[in-house]
Amino acid sequence: MEKGYQVHGIKRKSSLFNTQRIDHIYQDPHEIHLNFHLHYGDLTDSSNIIRIIQEVQPDEIYNLGAMSHVKVSFDMPEYAANADGIGTLRILEAVRLLGLTQKTKIYQASTSELFGLVQEIPQTEKTPFYPRSPYGVAKLFAYWTIVNYREAYNMFAANGILFNHESPRRGETFVTRKITRAATLMVYGLQKKVFLGNLDAKRDWGHAKDYVEAMWKMLQLDNPDDFVIATGHTHSIRDFCSKTFMKLGIEIEFSGNGIDEKGIVKSIDSKVLNNYGIDKPAINIGDVVIEIDPAYFRPTEVDLLIGNPVKAKKILNWVPKYNLEMLINEMVDSDMEIARIEKLTRK
Ligand code: GDD
Repeated sequence: MEKGYQVHGIKRKSSLFNTQRIDHIYQDPHEIHLNFHLHYGDLTDSSNIIRIIQEVQPDEIYNLGAMSHVKVSFDMPEYAANADGIGTLRILEAVRLLGLTQKTKIYQASTSELFGLVQEIPQTEKTPFYPRSPYGVAKLFAYWTIVNYREAYNMFAANGILFNHESPRRGETFVTRKITRAATLMVYGLQKKVFLGNLDAKRDWGHAKDYVEAMWKMLQLDNPDDFVIATGHTHSIRDFCSKTFMKLGIEIEFSGNGIDEKGIVKSIDSKVLNNYGIDKPAINIGDVVIEIDPAYFRPTEVDLLIGNPVKAKKILNWVPKYNLEMLINEMVDSDMEIARIEKLTRK
């Protein structure tokens, strides 16, 4: 919307309100919301997708719609295949059948999960895919469908192979936000500990803001192409925990192995918490704040992801502005404010 676009989004029907993460846009004092429209829709419903695209006649489609939780895709594999895989096909077919192939550009949210059991380190656009979850397999179908429609019908359809990208708006069941949320609730005494799965997994985490800029840049090219978007740095889940707690002045020591591993508070720098207005944190040296719950293990895991974004840097002139530390700082600050308000309202 900042770029002057009229934006149309699709939301699924739910019995509860589920637009909290974009509600502030409606409250924008500059009335920018006049350029923002939400339609009821679902990627599993072809006629609905066709109708919305026919009504909107979009210049650009950004398909980020998905059942995007990797672990949940093992529980709902057919739905993941339908929404994430065939859903992409439905958009492409809608554009084609409506005669919009020369007007509408399509961005497909492909993913580093395509690399799965990585065949090369770091991963580039040329690294062979080896998905490790129903989610990854569905996204593989979508990836190749985009390539096929581009070649078969001369459509502007592009894959962004995005590595993990996070922000304060990240859903709370994804590991980064689960950790920042837990740590901030703990200092306010609203949560005792957090249960996590595989702490050894490594991810190349970037900031969603940088990555959205790359998506947009991809659709401004003269010719469609596929790009890896990544930072080129990787960290374990354990590292992410340590850095998050450290931002709050809390040093964590990990001890034990496998499912017995625990994260224990080793030291607390109270000055840091004072700066957040906390005189007496509800957390003490020796507290066990991280434990392992095998329920969060995945039947097949993606152990290591690290991308090489050299093509995006060269062709899109894409340079990320955030590093991991800045990302964590922003997430922790935002979650501290949310926890502070929760503390006040729970009293
Ligand atoms: N969610 C979660 N919860 N993951 C955990 C936990 C936990 O308690 N403990 C350890 N992990 C590990 C997972 O096993 C995985 O290796 C890693 O943390 C990251 O998990 P997620 O944050 O759930 O993200 P993801 O890497 O599986 O997938 C995300 O990024 C992809 C690439 O951009 C999702 O956003 C996908 O939709 C996206 O395609």
